[in-house]
Amino acid sequence: MTNHLIEIRGLRTVFSSEEGVAKAVDGLDLHVDQGETLGLVGESGCGKSVTALSIMRLVPAPQGAIVAGEILFEGRDLLKLGESEMRKIRGNDISMIFQEPMTSLNPVFRVGDQIGEVFRLHRNMDSAEAAEASIEMLARVGIPSPRERAGDYPHQMSGGMRQRVMIAMALACDPKLMLADEPTTALDVTIQAQILELMNEIKSSKGTGIILITHDLGVVAEMADRVAVMYTGMIVEEAPVKDLYASPQHPYTIGLLKSIPRIDRQRTAHRQRLNVIAGMVPDLRRLPEGCTYQDRCPEVQPQCIHPPVLQRKPTGHLVRCWMR
Ligand SMILES: Nc1ncnc2c1ncn2[C@@H]1O[C@H](COP(=O)(O)OP(=O)(O)O)[C@@H](O)[C@H]1O
Ligand SMILES: [Mg+2]
Repeated sequence: MTNHLIEIRGLRTVFSSEEGVAKAVDGLDLHVDQGETLGLVGESGCGKSVTALSIMRLVPAPQGAIVAGEILFEGRDLLKLGESEMRKIRGNDISMIFQEPMTSLNPVFRVGDQIGEVFRLHRNMDSAEAAEASIEMLARVGIPSPRERAGDYPHQMSGGMRQRVMIAMALACDPKLMLADEPTTALDVTIQAQILELMNEIKSSKGTGIILITHDLGVVAEMADRVAVMYTGMIVEEAPVKDLYASPQHPYTIGLLKSIPRIDRQRTAHRQRLNVIAGMVPDLRRLPEGCTYQDRCPEVQPQCIHPPVLQRKPTGHLVRCWMR
C-alpha cells in the first residue's frame, strides 16, 4: 500500500521501430502527495512527456507500450484498470495539460461549450450554470472579454489563448492530480505568471497534487516543492526544491543549473542558454553501458561504465552517481 496520492514504481515505457527499441522511460520511481507540486525537469527527449502519457495511459500504441511497473493512484494500479475505468479517471481525478493544445480541443465546438461540458459532467451543473462557470473560468485564466470569447471556436484563438482554454478545462473538473506538460512554454511572461499563480492557488485551496513538467528551471524554482531531474528515462536526482538549487549533486543537475533561465527574460533567450551542457542527449535506442551521462560528464571516472543506482545520499538527495 501507499500513502501517496500517486506512486510510480519501476515504470518502463518503450517505443519500438525498425531502428530498435527506445527506452523512453526506464525504471522510473516517483511519487506525489496531495497538495504538492513535483517539478519534473530535464532536456528535451528525456522522457518527461512519455511519463505523463504513461500515467494517463495515453502512450501511442502500437509503437509505444508500457512494459513494466506500477502506477498506484490512491492505492490502485492504473496499469491494471480497464479502458472504461481509466476513462473515468482521466479528466476527472487526473487531468493533463498538454504541450500542444490544438490536439485536445475539439475544433467543431465553441470553447465555452467545451469547458461547460466539463462542468456539466463533473460538477453536475445545468447548462446555464455551466455556461456562467465557463466564463468565470476563462476570466480566471486571463482571457479578456471572456463572455465574448466563450463563443469562439478554437481556430479563432491564438495559441496562447487556446492554451489558457486548455488549462481552464483541466481545472474545471477539479482534479486530484494535474499533469502539466510545459503548460506555459508558448505563453508570454505576463500570462505565464498568471497561469502559474492560478495553478498555485488551486493547489493550496483544493489540495491538488501537481506534476509540473518543464525544461524551465526558473519556473520550477517558483512553483515546485520537490524536483526530480530526469535523464534518458531515469531519475538522476531528486530533492526538495531549496536543497536542489542550493546544493545540486548530480553532474547533470549542476550542468542544468548553470544554464538556469530567468523568468524575466525572453523565451528565445531561454532556449539558447539551455544548450550549455556539452554534447547531446544520447540516442535512447543506443544508450552507453553504465551511466548514460558518462559521455557528457565532466567528472567521469572508470567506474562509470557500471550503471549507478539511485541512492539516498548523506545530503538527503536521491542521486544516481558513483561520484557522490
Ligand atoms: N510517438 C513516439 N514515437 C516514437 N518514439 C517516441 C514517441 N514519443 C516519444 N518517443 C521517444 O521517447 C523519448 C522521450 O520523449 P518525450 O517524453 O516526449 O521527451 P521530453 O522529455 O522532451 O518530453 C524520445 O526521445 C523518443 O525517443
Ligand atoms: Mg515533452
